[in-house]
Amino acid sequence: MQIDRCVCFHLAFVDVLKDAREKQLSVEDVEFSLGCGGGCGLCRPYLRRCLRTGETSFDHIITDADEPG
Ligand code: FES
Repeated sequence: MQIDRCVCFHLAFVDVLKDAREKQLSVEDVEFSLGCGGGCGLCRPYLRRCLRTGETSFDHIITDADEPG
């Protein structure tokens, strides 16, 4: 199973990444402006990885320990 979106806000990481790069948004900015990460929070480590590396789809679990804030 691929993990490629924030389920709470129905936002695909590929779209979040595009928006974040265009507007030079930090993880906190994304959470504030798009909501992504501000619901259950499970997508936050994926969002951090996405913004850091450009990856938008994940085939394994990523936790806060893997991507500390
Ligand atoms: S999956 Fe992104 S806030 Fe819940």
